[in-house]
Amino acid sequence: MTLIAMISAKGSPGVSTAALAFTLTWPAPVLLAECDPAGGDLLAGYLARYELPPDRGVLPLASSALRGTADQDLTGNLIDLDAPRQQRMALPGLTEPAQSASLNLAWTALGEFFSRMTTRTVLADCGRLAAAHPPWSLLAQADLVLLTLRAHSLRTVSPAVSALSALRRQLPEGFVQQHVGLLLIGGGIASREISRHLGAPVVASLPWDPQTAAALCGDGRGRRRAPLMRHGAAAYDAVTERIAAQRMDSALSRRDTEQLPVTL
Ligand SMILES: Nc1ncnc2c1ncn2[C@@H]1O[C@H](COP(=O)(O)OP(=O)(O)O)[C@@H](O)[C@H]1O
Ligand SMILES: [Mg+2]
Repeated sequence: MTLIAMISAKGSPGVSTAALAFTLTWPAPVLLAECDPAGGDLLAGYLARYELPPDRGVLPLASSALRGTADQDLTGNLIDLDAPRQQRMALPGLTEPAQSASLNLAWTALGEFFSRMTTRTVLADCGRLAAAHPPWSLLAQADLVLLTLRAHSLRTVSPAVSALSALRRQLPEGFVQQHVGLLLIGGGIASREISRHLGAPVVASLPWDPQTAAALCGDGRGRRRAPLMRHGAAAYDAVTERIAAQRMDSALSRRDTEQLPVTL
């Protein structure tokens, strides 16, 4: 179906919070995959009040993907955030950042597995690019990479410049132009200014909403109609339209290439 990877340049602009807000509000079956090499947040945050089996998550699923058994082993590694409906599933992340080196070999296989999944939109929280071992080969398979940043000031926006350069260096030629968009958190600099400055489109924006963000980190209670959740739900259309437009573009450019006269 669709693989959407979410990253930040550096700092903590709110990638995990945004990914969870999307997972809890989008009108389609979603899998939130915690692929942050620095470790996952769900088990110690939003899910901290539940007693959950410790043996499931991205690490055992990565081994399954390398063995070719991820299809069979997927469900056993997930947590149903909306039990028993299985509409909003989560794949818990690493519990120790030291485990991330062992995932390096598996990002390609995991990315292939996620992008082959026909029943769900996969939201992969890939953490920050400035960390050790970013999951490049998973990012390269995403339909959309959402580079998340706070819109507050030049200080919060400018790290995205070097993040975009790193993405251009590490990912296939043309990938960034076609598959990378911005997700803005909070107000400050106008989105068209940010888009112009960074040379990338703003796909969606989420409001600054500390109470709901804290609830999504497991601290206090949030409201379904809170600004962060309403805008999270609204981002679904923006994101799916963006992906549909990209697919249309690449279908058209494939057709143009096929129609070029062939000289022998
Ligand atoms: N939209 C938001 N409004 C207010 N606070 C937020 C928002 N998003 C995140 N936060 C807060 O910022 C901190 C970092 O968020 P987190 O999602 O863990 O960032 P990241 O995944 O980018 O490291 C948390 O304390 C969280 O509650
Ligand atoms: Mg995070």
